[in-house]
Amino acid sequence: MESSSPLSRRAFGWKLLLALALVRTRAWAAGSGLVPTPRTGRGPFFPAGEVDSAGSDLLRAPQAVGGELLDIIGRVRGQDGQAVAGATLVIWQTDAHGQYDHPDSDPRPSGADALDPAFRYWGTAKADADGHYRFSTIVPGRYAVGGRWRPKHVHFEVRAEGYSSLATEMHFAGDPHAKEDFVATYAQHLMLAVEPRAVEPGPGDRPRQEASFDIVLTLA
Ligand SMILES: [Fe+2]
Repeated sequence: MESSSPLSRRAFGWKLLLALALVRTRAWAAGSGLVPTPRTGRGPFFPAGEVDSAGSDLLRAPQAVGGELLDIIGRVRGQDGQAVAGATLVIWQTDAHGQYDHPDSDPRPSGADALDPAFRYWGTAKADADGHYRFSTIVPGRYAVGGRWRPKHVHFEVRAEGYSSLATEMHFAGDPHAKEDFVATYAQHLMLAVEPRAVEPGPGDRPRQEASFDIVLTLA
């Protein structure tokens, strides 16, 4: 019977170390997983009114609302790729003319300061068991801050138990103001930008687009 020599014991030790290193590397790779959605912060126009009961439909009157109709769909996941069921999402945005329903939002450039009565400027949704969510809204307008234009965007805040809260923005690919944006870097803009596609409207409905915006949260 072969006895265990110091050499074979040493070789076994090295193999064990290599195996452990491989396991750790695989665990690290799995842990690093998906790239987290970039943070841009809440900004100054988080809804001043009641948010929780707003619902996921921002269209008070879909036939009358100003701007292009837009459905936003997506999935909330952790970096490990697992769905974050029950995540709470809040969105807020301007109307088609670039105005927020917020006391600090500048009036429209036209001078008219009336809000669009057919539009609800914010909404809230809960991700389902697979992490999916949906909002019905419009394409927002651009607006100026300190004499500079911000690219069109929809603000998101996502909260879920066990995960860090995320405040970010959904941008639109090809926006001419993306490179001069002072809130998101251009690299962030590219990661946050969606390309809406036309969807078939129902009988009598207005044309509608759909954008897909997936969100990756980090553990708390
Ligand atoms: Fe904004």
